Amino acid sequence: MAANTFGVAFRVTTWGESHGPALGAVVDGCPPGLALDEHDVQEWLNRRRPGRAPSASPRREDDQVEILSGVFEGKTTGTPIALLIRNRDAASHDYEDLRDVFRPGHGDFAYMQKYGIRDHRGGGRASGRETAARVAAGAVAAKVLAPAGIRVFAFTRELGGIAATDIRPGEMDRNDLRCPDPKAAEQMASRLEEAREGGDSLGGVVEIIVQGCPPGLGEPVFDKLDADLAKALMSIGTVKGVEIGAGFEAARMKGSQSNDTLGPDGFGSNRAGGILAGISTGQDIVLRAACKPIPSIGREQQTVDVFGKPVVLAVRGRHDVCVIPRILPVCEAMVSIVLADHLLRQRAVGR
Ligand SMILES: Cc1cc2nc3c(=O)[nH]c(=O)nc-3n(C[C@H](O)[C@H](O)[C@H](O)COP(=O)(O)O)c2cc1C
Repeated sequence: MAANTFGVAFRVTTWGESHGPALGAVVDGCPPGLALDEHDVQEWLNRRRPGRAPSASPRREDDQVEILSGVFEGKTTGTPIALLIRNRDAASHDYEDLRDVFRPGHGDFAYMQKYGIRDHRGGGRASGRETAARVAAGAVAAKVLAPAGIRVFAFTRELGGIAATDIRPGEMDRNDLRCPDPKAAEQMASRLEEAREGGDSLGGVVEIIVQGCPPGLGEPVFDKLDADLAKALMSIGTVKGVEIGAGFEAARMKGSQSNDTLGPDGFGSNRAGGILAGISTGQDIVLRAACKPIPSIGREQQTVDVFGKPVVLAVRGRHDVCVIPRILPVCEAMVSIVLADHLLRQRAVGR
C-alpha cells in the first residue's frame, strides 16, 4: 500500500518529484475560519531555500507557493487546502550521466529494487525537494497550533562533529547555520568549507523544541505522541536517528537519575522530554534528529550501474554540503503536523 499521506485528523498528502513540473501538498482536516494566505506559507518556504549558509546548494529554488483551494477571502474553509510549488530551476541535464548509475547513499538502488523504474533526475521522490511540500503543509499546521499557544522551533545542535554547548538564546538568529553557540557556529562554517573544497559532505544533529504544548496529547497505545513524532522525523530523507528528552543517554542512567521528580510546583527536571507514556505532560517537548551526510559528493566513489557493471562515480550537479540548516524548517513542519493532528484528536476526545 502506498503511503504519501500522514496524519489522522489533520491529514497531509504530498506529491511530485524534484524535476517534474511542480510538487505540492494537500492538507485535509484543517479547521475552518483560520486566517491563511500565501505569505504565511511563503515565509516558511523561504527558510528552506538554499540560502547563504556555507552548506547550501547553488540551486536557486524560487519556491513560490500557490494556494489552489480551501481558502476563501483569507480564511480556511474546512475543505482540502491544495498547495502548489512549481519547479523552476531544475537543471535536469546535470543528471544525464546518472540515468543508469546508482549513487552511493542515495535512494537510487532501493527505488529501482522496489519499482523497477525510477526518475534519475535529482532523485525523484527521494529528493530533498519533496520536503518543500512538507514545509508548506507545516505552515498550515502552525496556524492550527498558534491559537493554542503552541510554538515549535528548531536549531543546529551539532554539525560535522562540532557540538553547540554554550547555548545563548537569540544567537541562532545571528548566523546562517542557526546555531545558538556563536563559537561553535564559526567552527561549523569552516568545517563546511573544508568539506566543500574536498568534494565531501557532512552530517549533523537538529534539536527541536515545542513550547506551550498542553498536557494530554498522544493516543496510546500505537499513536503515542513520541511514536508519531519519531515517525514524522524519520520520514525525512537523511534522518537516521531520533531522540526524545535524554534519549540514548537515558540508557546509561540509573532510575534515580533518569526520573523527573514531581512536586507541588510541577516537575523538577525534564529528562523525559515532555512526554510520558506517549502523552504530553505540559513540559517543553525536546527532540533531536540525527542527519547523515548528504549522499551526493564530488569525490570519486565506487558503485555499479543498473547492469551490475562497476563504475567510479563523482557526482556533478548542484548539491548541499550538509542538510543543515535547510532541514530545520522541515523538522519544524513535521513536528507541527503531528501536534496539529493530536491537538484536533484530543479535542475529539472532548475532555
Ligand atoms: C532539505 C534536504 C535537502 C537535501 N539535499 C540533497 C542534495 O542536495 N543532494 C543529495 O544527494 N541529497 C540531498 N538530500 C538527502 C536525500 O534526500 C536523502 O539522503 C535520500 O532521500 C536518501 O534517504 P536516506 O538518507 O534517508 O537514506 C536532502 C535532504 C533534505 C531533507
